[in-house]
Amino acid sequence: MQGTFYEREVWDLRNQVVILDFGAQYTQLIARRIREQKVYCQVISGDASVSEIRSAVDPAGADIPGAVILSGGPDSVYEDGAVLPDRAVFELGCPVLGISYGMQAMAKVLGGRVVAARGAGRTREYGPAVLRVASRDGIFEGFPAETRVWMGHGDIVDQVPEGFSVTGSTGDTPVAAMADLSRRLYGVEFHPEVTDTSLGKELIANFLFGVAGLAPDWTMERFVENTVKDIRERVGNAHVVAGVSGGVDSTVCAALVHKAIGDHLHPILVDHGLMRQGEAAYVVEAMSRLGVRVKLVDAQDRFLDRLSGVSDPERKRKIIGEEFIRIFEEEARHLDGVEYLLQGTIYPDVIESGSRTRKVIKSHHNVGGLPERMNLKLLEPVRELFKDEVRLAGKEMGLSDEFLGRHPFPGPGLAVRVLGEVTRDRIDVVRKAQAVLDEEIRRAGWYDRLWQCFCVLPNVRTVGMTGDQRTYGHVIAIRAVHSEDAMTAEWARLPCDVLERVSARITSEVSDVNRVVLDITSKPPSTIEWE
Ligand code: XMP
Repeated sequence: MQGTFYEREVWDLRNQVVILDFGAQYTQLIARRIREQKVYCQVISGDASVSEIRSAVDPAGADIPGAVILSGGPDSVYEDGAVLPDRAVFELGCPVLGISYGMQAMAKVLGGRVVAARGAGRTREYGPAVLRVASRDGIFEGFPAETRVWMGHGDIVDQVPEGFSVTGSTGDTPVAAMADLSRRLYGVEFHPEVTDTSLGKELIANFLFGVAGLAPDWTMERFVENTVKDIRERVGNAHVVAGVSGGVDSTVCAALVHKAIGDHLHPILVDHGLMRQGEAAYVVEAMSRLGVRVKLVDAQDRFLDRLSGVSDPERKRKIIGEEFIRIFEEEARHLDGVEYLLQGTIYPDVIESGSRTRKVIKSHHNVGGLPERMNLKLLEPVRELFKDEVRLAGKEMGLSDEFLGRHPFPGPGLAVRVLGEVTRDRIDVVRKAQAVLDEEIRRAGWYDRLWQCFCVLPNVRTVGMTGDQRTYGHVIAIRAVHSEDAMTAEWARLPCDVLERVSARITSEVSDVNRVVLDITSKPPSTIEWE
């Protein structure tokens, strides 16, 4: 499933967009905005050659994209070593839209001039601005004379390249938009991909449909159909082994592959004893409703034995990872003809780890070195999708909204929510408290509003009282956060009456707990999990 998702017989290969990434934090957002308009797009390095662009679109290298977008970026185009697009990009024949750094790069490569905003006697422009539209052709079709846009740049184009005209300006930025209508080259200094630009969506739609003439054909129905066909061809008669956890990505992957090759898929659920209440049975049942038979391996004792006496969070993670691999290998050894390991890599992982022009490179996590150890090839059927697209693909295959909307749950499970030593008793405390919390949060209608909401068992005891008796019991901490992508998070202001019920129920229903506290820190400075 490497490279493009499109196949020549089924799709018009030109009906896709290539985004050249110059490292802006907003690059993924540009991709999201395009996919939302039902147009397929890929993000590749800003310095990609034209032949790399062609082969991203069409492995045979024959076709070109329907449009190219140049993303923003943190650098200055006139600095030594600045990454610039290949000049030939502008001669491909497809429309190009440069955004912020992308517009400056376009101006620089085509002979215009870019200067520091300060050097031109102007201030850096950050935040909202009013764009005065000078020409309503192309990307500004149907726009009013003035519209609110979102700026974020320290440089400006102060001379447009030959053939271009200025199509929009703001108080601080005389060239806030430029275009060469005959070559279909457009640049905007502001960010149409952020919602603070009032007509950003309309601008992107004008570019995709009006200027580039693309068709909105990217739907999850077609994705499922096409991917199933692709998996079938690629895997042939081989077998595929998969570790499933009940998470959305691994479940959707398993459902796709099962649809393609049926019983040649072997999903394995390792119950490490660190799952939420009823979790293993719930996952097995949800998968069986899709016709997927999951092998449940009960390894609770093995994990808990190995964790005994261990308090260091990193040691815990390492032990759990190693033990998981060991059990997985043992199980897979009993299977014949396995050539592939299924993995739930999604597009943000690919963007983060795959671009040469990205400053912060995060390698996406996989199942700790399994493919090399087991000599398996990777199958990554949702590596082209964003999280919400994975959910839509799951829905398309019959997974329930309830299943697809479940909060993320860490691989090492409750072990990282039991601070200090992990024992069966302490896991039980946090598991029971979590069940109460889930029930109350769902009942209050808050579950879908939160990214995560969970209980933590710190390794302290506090004094309390039950009737006339002094107690010396556990503390449960409640952590509830809002987040878009887990990179940052804001603590959730849960209603006091909900918190009160949660506290009353946990202290009365979970034995040995005499205190409930609320975590009121955001990320940063905290992480979402406590360990
Ligand atoms: P942090 O705690 O780093 O968590 O802010 C960000 C998101 O990742 C989840 N998380 C993990 N998931 N293995 C996982 O599969 C892990 O070791 C792990 N640690 C944290 C966490 O629940 C949150 O959604």
